[in-house]
Amino acid sequence: MKVLVTGGAGYIGSHTCVALIEAGHQPIALDNLCNSNPESLRRVAVITGCEVPFIQGDVCDEAVLEQVFAAHSDIGCVIHFAGLKAVGESVAKPLDYYRNNLLSTMSLVRVMGRHGVKKIIFSSSATVYAADNEMPLREDSKTGSCTNPYGWSKYMCEQILRDVAKADSAWSVVLLRYFNPVGAHPSGLMGEHPNGIPSNLMPFISQTAVGKREKLSIFGNDYDTPDGTGVRDYIHVVDLARGHVAAVDHLLRHSGEAVFNLGTGRGCSVLELVHAFEEANGVTVPYTIAPRRSGDLATCYADPTKSHTELGWQAQYDRVDMCRDTWNWQRKNPNGYDE
Ligand code: NAD
Ligand code: UD1
Repeated sequence: MKVLVTGGAGYIGSHTCVALIEAGHQPIALDNLCNSNPESLRRVAVITGCEVPFIQGDVCDEAVLEQVFAAHSDIGCVIHFAGLKAVGESVAKPLDYYRNNLLSTMSLVRVMGRHGVKKIIFSSSATVYAADNEMPLREDSKTGSCTNPYGWSKYMCEQILRDVAKADSAWSVVLLRYFNPVGAHPSGLMGEHPNGIPSNLMPFISQTAVGKREKLSIFGNDYDTPDGTGVRDYIHVVDLARGHVAAVDHLLRHSGEAVFNLGTGRGCSVLELVHAFEEANGVTVPYTIAPRRSGDLATCYADPTKSHTELGWQAQYDRVDMCRDTWNWQRKNPNGYDE
């Protein structure tokens, strides 16, 4: 099936293009390249032997979307990755985040509706869950009380899509809540290259290991967790990408709205990840203990049972794979796709 992938040149989008092609689908990527490099799609072609048609354009722009749907009248469904995702930046520039993330979703759904394409998968996040839930998080755990505009924008997009599915039973909407995506394609050809100083843990670890950063600051070692450091559910980006293929199959068989966690169900502390990275790659990651980061939870991990039973999907890669593949990408591409 032809699948429009918005944000297809980005970290998760490009890995999902590989997974779609491997499953026999034909992805088309639409991206304005505000946080990516089209080299990622060239690498998709190297890995799969298939070129991904690419349109450079803004998903907020209905005229662009009209052209895409007119040129590809056989698009069967859309995976909507395009969005801004830096939590700290969203606090400083809330309007940029609300405008881009909400307007892109609304423009996309309006144009899809006009062209009779009523199947969409949306990139949501574990950040939509309220802070006072018990772990593990289930799809019916409490949502809301987000701590930043990025989180609210995901929460609001979920609501918009839910309302669209409620208003017209021809729609099929899958909301995927990602936990902590990490890792890279095992070939070392594709991975994540954050702009500037990484705010997420795994890229900070790998940049420290390669010598780009002096040392990692571990934000707090006095949490109520086994070793005092924060616990998260890290998921390999290739597993995450395959979760989207499973969601495409689900879209074809169901209408209405469905929400799924994409996580492993296994918590991993900051110290455990640092030590796993060191052991998997034979490197040292210097670190220091720093104060807690505001807005952080002690523990956050998924209950992935629903994804397993209803999507038939389960994460395959473990912590060692995530660390090995991150390092393989980092070493081979110290400047990401910019070389
Ligand atoms: P990314 O920045 O690598 O990819 C997003 C892509 O969207 C980029 O290529 C960017 O250029 C593009 N884009 C942004 N706004 C656009 C617009 N208006 N029109 C066209 N293209 C646009 O990020 P990612 O990590 O691949 O994340 C993909 C999606 O998953 C995002 O919606 C993000 O919020 C969500 N998500 C990511 C994580 C994570 O940790 N990476 C966690 C939860 C949810
Ligand atoms: C963060 C975002 C979340 C977003 C997710 C995407 C916040 C509060 N949350 O989640 O909304 O969906 O990224 O991947 O920003 N850590 C360190 N040192 C570092 C970086 C992180 O100790 O330099 C710790 C954090 O305190 C946390 C863990 O590592 O315990 C993971 O942090 P991070 O990778 O930023 O992810 P989240 O905070 O889970």
